[in-house]
Amino acid sequence: MRTRITELFGIEHPIVQGGMHFVGLAELTSAVANAGGLGLITALTQPTPAALAAEIARCKTMTDKPFGVNLTFLPARTPPDYPGYVRAIIEGGVKIVETAGNNPQQWLPVLKEAGIKVIHKCTSVRHALKAQEIGCDAVSVDGFECGGHPGEDDVPNFILLPRAAEELEIPFVASGGMADARSLVAALALGADGINMGTRFLATREAPVHENVKQAIVAASELDTRLVMRPLRNTERVLVNAGVERLLDKERRLGADITFADIVSEVGGVYPKVMRGGEMDAGAWSCGMVAGLIHDIPSVKDLMARIVADADTLIRGRLAGMLAA
Ligand SMILES: Cc1cc2nc3c(=O)[nH]c(=O)nc-3n(C[C@H](O)[C@H](O)[C@H](O)COP(=O)(O)O)c2cc1C
Repeated sequence: MRTRITELFGIEHPIVQGGMHFVGLAELTSAVANAGGLGLITALTQPTPAALAAEIARCKTMTDKPFGVNLTFLPARTPPDYPGYVRAIIEGGVKIVETAGNNPQQWLPVLKEAGIKVIHKCTSVRHALKAQEIGCDAVSVDGFECGGHPGEDDVPNFILLPRAAEELEIPFVASGGMADARSLVAALALGADGINMGTRFLATREAPVHENVKQAIVAASELDTRLVMRPLRNTERVLVNAGVERLLDKERRLGADITFADIVSEVGGVYPKVMRGGEMDAGAWSCGMVAGLIHDIPSVKDLMARIVADADTLIRGRLAGMLAA
């Protein structure tokens, strides 16, 4: 399959593995790259820029295909060493960066100067247009279904993607709720040039996380995610568990007076406990509604091959067969 996204990034299949905290390590990134997609190392999972440089170098020993780095700009009182992480990306020779969170404008000149292609992840048409205006090469359009931060507009992909297609000139991938060939073909029909998947890649053999996480995703239905931190305008879609129930109870009780400090035990430091320790009730960790469509834990290679082969059958068989002669 050839789309503007495969051309832009020099990849075989229009499938991106979105940045995932404590998941986007060299094992998963290289597996996606080797299977012909775009894999992304998650910068902020590395405690320092030097650790990110080492992770990039490790990934290069595992694949000779292109891969990228996700740089998430978080609302934080003491921001991480972003200049250091950007330097590690540039000096590591990485040529693709996925930005997410805040507007990446201040980093674009230095990234572009280094010949890096930037795909910005956003949750609304207006933010996608802004990304286009400031010089991003592509965007990842994240619908309300997505695992992680869907923003505050709550527009699902059946509306958001065609709206993005109406307005954007740069290529975009559909993100949120993507699991299989049906998602890919639908996303292309709605105007996207490919798909971005998070939760689906989390439930693969190569995802370097505790087996409990993968089993929890397979066991979950589309009804098992919750939106947390909405009162703080930092909404996150997470898999429900005892920690999340406790958090939601606090949100109900404290109402508009709630602060980050009230919920820090349910949202702070949760990722290592869940992803490494398999403590499934530790608190809030991102997971998409798409969990309802995930029934197995394949290798990345098998998953990608299945998506591409089934997409071919869907387009040439089911869809073409529906056309009147
Ligand atoms: C466990 C997990 C952690 C994530 N961490 C990040 C992150 O650190 N930065 C980021 O930009 N997106 C993050 N995301 C969002 C994904 O990159 C992707 O946009 C999202 O999962 C797409 O929705 P889906 O899960 O329905 O495929 C995370 C998602 C998951 C499931």
